[in-house]
Amino acid sequence: MLESNQWTCLKMGSLHATASAAALLALTTWCHPCRADVGDFAPCTDFFYSTWPPKGLPGVPICQRYLNKYRFATLYSRPRRAPWFSAYVFTPPAGRRPKEEWKYEPQLAYAKADGNMVPFPPGKVDQNVVESQAVQLDYINSSYTRGHLNPSLHHQDLQDKESTFTLTNVVPQKFGSNDGPWAWLEKHVSQLLTKHCNGDSYIVTGVIPYETDRWLKGDRVAVPEYLWSAYCCPNYNKSLPVNLANTFPTFAAIGRNDPNSTEEIVPINRGVRKEFWGYDVRLMPLATLEMYLQQRFGTVFTVFYNQCSEP
Ligand SMILES: *[C@@H]1O[C@H](CO)[C@@H](O)[C@H](O)[C@H]1NC(C)=O
Ligand SMILES: *[C@@H]1O[C@H](CO)[C@@H](O)[C@H](O)[C@H]1NC(C)=O
Ligand SMILES: *[C@@H]1O[C@H](CO)[C@@H](O)[C@H](O)[C@H]1NC(C)=O
Repeated sequence: MLESNQWTCLKMGSLHATASAAALLALTTWCHPCRADVGDFAPCTDFFYSTWPPKGLPGVPICQRYLNKYRFATLYSRPRRAPWFSAYVFTPPAGRRPKEEWKYEPQLAYAKADGNMVPFPPGKVDQNVVESQAVQLDYINSSYTRGHLNPSLHHQDLQDKESTFTLTNVVPQKFGSNDGPWAWLEKHVSQLLTKHCNGDSYIVTGVIPYETDRWLKGDRVAVPEYLWSAYCCPNYNKSLPVNLANTFPTFAAIGRNDPNSTEEIVPINRGVRKEFWGYDVRLMPLATLEMYLQQRFGTVFTVFYNQCSEP
């Protein structure tokens, strides 16, 4: 059973659109004693540029832990049963894609769990787990794929890759986006950072909700209208090709997850293959991304400390 203070976290998590600074403060104070690895980014601030998590949205901080090691960080929304964003340090990819073994977070359901993600059991899933997060059945036979926010192909270490296969790092994403323009973006960013970034690259990838929430198969898991992503590479090679001059130290993107969305934020390129039609990604400066996030969230959302300015 969930304890009463955890329900407080849950209720406050749904205040996202109107959260004031006071509510955010109360959220942190309330959730702090909940448990070790949910409710506090303190053990995993290394995954954020300047150890500074993005500011502006209430949710449940999860230090994503796999095989007793922190791998990345997620701001999770209990009412949406989905992440707001995941943050990680990029490493030039190498090696094979791991086998798809989907995991869940016992600590979202049981305060005493040790904070490690674990694979779903082969049979029926515990009802408290089902209540507290998305499970495999939510996605099966839906018209959405499991879209990684932190993708396995942005990592070198096999266990780091495996750790991205947790449903708290996943949102309902249309195939046309996940296998099309969004996949191309992930590859593009990977090549760009591998080639031109000399030090650490910090990436934050998240969602923009519909103005009126939509739900996977009608309930339980919220579907995003757009995905967004931004990187911060404070230490980069200054002799950049002219066409990349404004893309360091930071750049961002928004991708469509619905061909029916209007075109104010991301226009549609009608020249692409039919299956990817309407899933375009628009590259943009960080400040432009933050403007769109502020518009939709109704509150200032800051992705990187000091706009990822150089140290
Ligand atoms: C998914 O759909 C197939 C075909 O309609 C059906 O046989 C199967 O039982 C469904 N699975 C679930 C988990 O709903
Ligand atoms: C920076 O880029 C230039 C041109 O591509 C290359 O010659 C040089 O070795 C790079 N320097 C570093 C420190 O990576
Ligand atoms: C877009 O609109 C069409 C026609 O109304 C509908 O069939 C389709 O399901 C919609 N797509 C999404 C992703 O909502």
